[in-house]
Amino acid sequence: MDGVTVIDHPLVQHKLTLMRKKETSTASFRRLLREISTLLCYEVTRDLDLTTTRIETPMREMDAPILEGKKLVFASILRAGNGLLEGMLDLVPAARVAHIGMYRDHDTLQPVEYYFKAPEDLANRLIIVVDPMLATANSATAAMEKLKERGAKNIRFLCLLAAPEGIQRFRAAHPDIPVFTASIDEGLNEKGYIMPGLGDAGDRMYGTK
Ligand code: PRP
Ligand code: URA
Repeated sequence: MDGVTVIDHPLVQHKLTLMRKKETSTASFRRLLREISTLLCYEVTRDLDLTTTRIETPMREMDAPILEGKKLVFASILRAGNGLLEGMLDLVPAARVAHIGMYRDHDTLQPVEYYFKAPEDLANRLIIVVDPMLATANSATAAMEKLKERGAKNIRFLCLLAAPEGIQRFRAAHPDIPVFTASIDEGLNEKGYIMPGLGDAGDRMYGTK
């Protein structure tokens, strides 16, 4: 599908299977999510532009590659986005961080926003929005609108699991934002959960119900 990348690296797929299993403990689920997020981060940043800087090795001077432009922004859709955020920051510790507090109302499946804090100069930075689950896409779509209102122009969305209907809705609303995911599952059930999915990501991460 145009604008959608499925990250099918064997380690990602293996760890995702462990996360899906219902008997996987909260501690293991969190550890796996952190591990998998470093692998996803590697893929979502693989085409970033480089420039060079003059450095001196113990042997001689050279022009060595470094990332070009302003520091990245990782934007986490709370709560579950934080599970991806931590591994991403392990790889890119200098990234700036935005937090978008949003939960889905269980009856309407509409997002309820409760918090937003982002760096000032979003217009000049690449923003990678992270949330493990893209189900109806209501949350992700609203998060993108919020970021765009604050000036964001260059955004990517990274998730772990996506429903085909969520991807379709997201891409229709935000055709300029590429989507990266480890899996496109079968679809949504009548309660808006991804099938076969992994259940409620936030609850599995934090041991809540
Ligand atoms: C989950 C998930 C997404 C959202 C996806 O969050 O982390 O943010 O649902 O569903 P959607 O695509 O249908 O909007 P949830 O609302 O459960 O909040 P939580 O992360 O605080 O548990
Ligand atoms: N949010 C989740 O955490 N899981 C789903 O399957 C759908 C939305």
